[in-house]
Amino acid sequence: IPLPAEIFGARRNSAGVDLSDPLVREPLLEQLAALASKQWTAEPAFGAGGAQIGVNSPHDFGQRVGTVTYATAKGIAEGVEAAQAIQPGWDALGGEKRALLLEAAADLFEAHTAEFLSLCQREAGKTLVDAVLELREAVDFLRYYAAEARRQFSVPLVLPGPTGEENLLRLHGRGVFATIAPWNFPLAIFIGMAAAGLAAGNCVLAKPAEQTPLIAALAVKLCHKAGIPDDVLQLVPGDGAVGAALTAHPGVCGVAFTGSTATAQAINRSLAGRDGPIATLIAETGGQNAMIVDSSALPEQVVRDVLGSAFQSAGQRCSALRVLYLQEDVADSMLEMIRGGFEALHVGDPTLLETDVGPVIDAEAKASLDAHVSAMRGAGHPVWQHTLPEACAKGTFVAPAIIQIDGIAQLSKENFGPILHVARFAAGEMERMVDDINATGFGLTLGLHSRIAATRRMVEARARVGNFYVNRNQIGAVVESQPFGGQGLSGTGPKAGGPHYLARFATERVTCVDT
Ligand code: NAD
Ligand code: ALA
Repeated sequence: IPLPAEIFGARRNSAGVDLSDPLVREPLLEQLAALASKQWTAEPAFGAGGAQIGVNSPHDFGQRVGTVTYATAKGIAEGVEAAQAIQPGWDALGGEKRALLLEAAADLFEAHTAEFLSLCQREAGKTLVDAVLELREAVDFLRYYAAEARRQFSVPLVLPGPTGEENLLRLHGRGVFATIAPWNFPLAIFIGMAAAGLAAGNCVLAKPAEQTPLIAALAVKLCHKAGIPDDVLQLVPGDGAVGAALTAHPGVCGVAFTGSTATAQAINRSLAGRDGPIATLIAETGGQNAMIVDSSALPEQVVRDVLGSAFQSAGQRCSALRVLYLQEDVADSMLEMIRGGFEALHVGDPTLLETDVGPVIDAEAKASLDAHVSAMRGAGHPVWQHTLPEACAKGTFVAPAIIQIDGIAQLSKENFGPILHVARFAAGEMERMVDDINATGFGLTLGLHSRIAATRRMVEARARVGNFYVNRNQIGAVVESQPFGGQGLSGTGPKAGGPHYLARFATERVTCVDT
């Protein structure tokens, strides 16, 4: 039944792929099998001669997915120059025409579902469920920012003034934006940031993470096929050094970044010390996310939401649950149920349908997570951990773990993988616990399981987080419904997939006419 447009808006989020329907699933699995050894490439928009690097699957190093050629400093400079030349024309096109192009790209993304799902699995190690969610979010970003371009960039805002005076406010692109993406949402966040920059009238030089350039290259290719000019959206593949060269270029007037807090801070320092226009920085970064469960919570719901929040996507979501606080009178029984579900998680090859937890992205991530578990064990914290199946030796797998701790202050950094920490609290300690969570300096997601309205109101008022989830899981923010992003060490805002996001990519111009 169509929802009334005047209440919900004319745009609807993507329906995705119904994997429970065999008539959908079986042909899709056949398409994925046919793509299992396809080789992909990623090339920079400008400048040949950069390093050529092979990209292998995180779940099986023996599987080559394709080859990436890194951008060079010369290529970046040529790209910025070409973008500066075309940007006024792209801006002048207006919100409506840019929206049509972004919507055409969204349609093409859906038409290439199998290719995108295959790359999510082979290049980023995602399970099929995660891959489907990733493509949905990418398509939703394209269509949502198209709708926002129409709303905010098509007609001027008429401002008040005395009789005989006309005041109009218009939004325009700032110029050339650099977008710097992480590997954990190699399609959705990569294209989400780029689409926002484009919708607002900017040209975008888009750098994917070094681990996942191939899926980004397909996304850019389809945007070009949809009619977005090559110089308006350019792929800039490379590692952190390429990202640093791009953001340091004085022709770049804004940077949208998603990734670790440390990299955001490095980009912030670089922009501050750079010549050229005062650049704007939009940064979405990491979290030290907690969930609080009191004795009024429903146990089955808690188990489902804890396991999903901590272990889906192998814990490689910025929103993922890292520290679970259980009220002490229910802690033992809840923990027993959680451990039951935890032990049943299937760890392994993400291309198999039964897999719940796939690999982590690379050897560096694995080493850091394994070292954390060893250090916690060495310090005397009780640890429950899976034993990895033999097949996992082919890739970068981390055995999922639950570690008991006293409180969040015992963790010095974000552990970006399938590791859940559990602590206990006594009735009456809730306020102090929220203060401890705030004291980490991060402020991304917080979960609460409680049926007590006064508890919800207290936590809501006291917690300094961007996304607060009550009696549900704390991952999987939906475009437009749950705009996503944090504060403090977790980012600058505004929230991706929300109504204020595009404005930050824009500059405002006021025209005042004495009529
Ligand atoms: P990362 O910071 O290592 O890399 C992110 C991107 O920055 C990559 O493209 C990398 O090449 C580039 N980069 C590295 N150094 C650079 C420099 N000096 N200048 C410019 N660019 C540079 O992060 P990651 O490991 O790819 O991603 C995981 C992190 O991202 C986690 O901390 C996670 O919490 C965070 N994340 C946050 C959100 C959010 O919305 N808040 C979403 C996803 C991931
Ligand atoms: N937006 C992603 C989530 O909510 C990071 O899990």
